Amino acid sequence: MNTLIINGPNLNLLGKREPHIYGNITLNDINDKIKTEFSNNKNINFEFYQNNIEGEIINKLHSSMGKIDGIIINAGAYTHTSLAIADAIKAINIPTVEVHLSNIYSREEVRHKSFLSPCCIGQISGFGFYSYILAVYALINHLKIRN
Ligand code: DQA
Repeated sequence: MNTLIINGPNLNLLGKREPHIYGNITLNDINDKIKTEFSNNKNINFEFYQNNIEGEIINKLHSSMGKIDGIIINAGAYTHTSLAIADAIKAINIPTVEVHLSNIYSREEVRHKSFLSPCCIGQISGFGFYSYILAVYALINHLKIRN
């Protein structure tokens, strides 16, 4: 299972950014935790990608066609604004799980709307770094990948 983990705008600043909401963990720490959690599963490969620019995220989604089996995306604030990223997820037809570190439904109302959710197989929100781990388990289950 070739798995692409996409992080959108401002997630490169994790560790420094609003630690009362996102904690002290960096994006590299999160990626390491994902690799460690699944280190015994020989059937999973991870590619990690972060970009702050909407169009670059869309280009990355397009270039995944034919190469990637499952995608995990934390699109940051683009979650709440980007019909274009939602369209790209629909267009590429690769099972995608939406994740958020924070519980977007317990925050400001503007964060309650996700353009991406209808295009994803599911959404995991509110478990900090563990949202990403749960998302990988969800993809494994969805794609029926064995150890
Ligand atoms: C976020 C939630 C978004 O509302 C916010 O804009 C982010 C991070 C999360 O992981 O909790 O940048 O996606």
